[in-house]
Amino acid sequence: MQDHKINKVAVLTSGGDAPGMNAAIRAIVRTASHHGLQIAGVQKGYYGLVHNEFIDLGSRSVSNIIQRGGTILRSARCQEFRTEEGQRQAAENLQSNDIDALFVIGGDGSLQGAHHLATHWPGQIIGLPGTIDNDLSGTDYTIGYFTALDTALDAIDKIRDTADAIDRVFLVEVMGRMAGFIAAGAGVAGGAEEILVPERAVDIDALVDDITIAKEKGKVSFIMIVAEGAYPGGATALSVELEKKSGIECRPCILGYIQRGGSPAALDRILATKLGTFSVEQALQGVSGVMTGIINSELVTTPLKQTWENRKPLDPYLFELQKIMAG
Ligand code: ADP
Ligand code: F6P
Repeated sequence: MQDHKINKVAVLTSGGDAPGMNAAIRAIVRTASHHGLQIAGVQKGYYGLVHNEFIDLGSRSVSNIIQRGGTILRSARCQEFRTEEGQRQAAENLQSNDIDALFVIGGDGSLQGAHHLATHWPGQIIGLPGTIDNDLSGTDYTIGYFTALDTALDAIDKIRDTADAIDRVFLVEVMGRMAGFIAAGAGVAGGAEEILVPERAVDIDALVDDITIAKEKGKVSFIMIVAEGAYPGGATALSVELEKKSGIECRPCILGYIQRGGSPAALDRILATKLGTFSVEQALQGVSGVMTGIINSELVTTPLKQTWENRKPLDPYLFELQKIMAG
């Protein structure tokens, strides 16, 4: 297909940083350079876009970053960009920097921002799913999810050693905002006895029964994975409630921000490289207003609005087999 005429592109990372963002930046820069395009990086996400923090990038700028967590462009959460005035200023800065296409690597909020920017700027905008939450529709996996899973699993395996040693119930709280993908994946991989997610109601009395029955059956350890959005107050509050009702010692363990760090897993690096390259190729064909993703191993594009308006479902089979495994 005749290449669509663009000369200069820009890339930014926005919102919650995720392992693999650097691999995506690298793929965008190297592919754009391969096609003879000029490349600019925008520092600190939408904050940098509003405050004109553009830097020149080239193939050498992204050497030796594929294995690094975080993002060399840094990220931010920017209230200014939620306003029309902030979006207009961002559009002006893109215009004055002669940008023809912008790549936004971020989560659902960042993609909503990209969607609003399009009403102020005529250039092409392509989003890449960069979040550990895996909560974006239009892709089976988001960049950072695999690494966050491995990080949570490593912690769960360590918790299991003390859970085997002392008669207690451990509640391991994982990130995911209002989605349970990290909890469901880490729970099955970690052999958890319970998995609590925002998508499914929590029944305290049923949990107390499960704990009591498990102890009666002689189960040596009991680990519950609690997605941070599954219960008000998270694992800490739930731990107090369960101990009060069951009479069994309960201990919370909040994994927190370690899930956002670390050297990206191989699958995140491969995903990020595929999506970065595919995104530039789509831009060269004139595509705009979409997020790139991978579904059933196929590279696809999805209109930006659908990525957050269509709630991506959890795999129900994970919960069926977890119940059998916990028997
Ligand atoms: P994530 O992209 O990881 O979901 P946020 O939800 O914090 O992270 O969004 C990142 C940034 O995107 C916000 O700080 C804001 O600048 C911008 N943003 C989010 N939602 C909107 C919106 N509805 N309109 C305009 N900008 C938005
Ligand atoms: O969206 C990624 C994420 O890590 C969520 O899982 C978590 O709830 C949120 O970001 C934390 O936001 P912040 O980095 O602003 O504390």
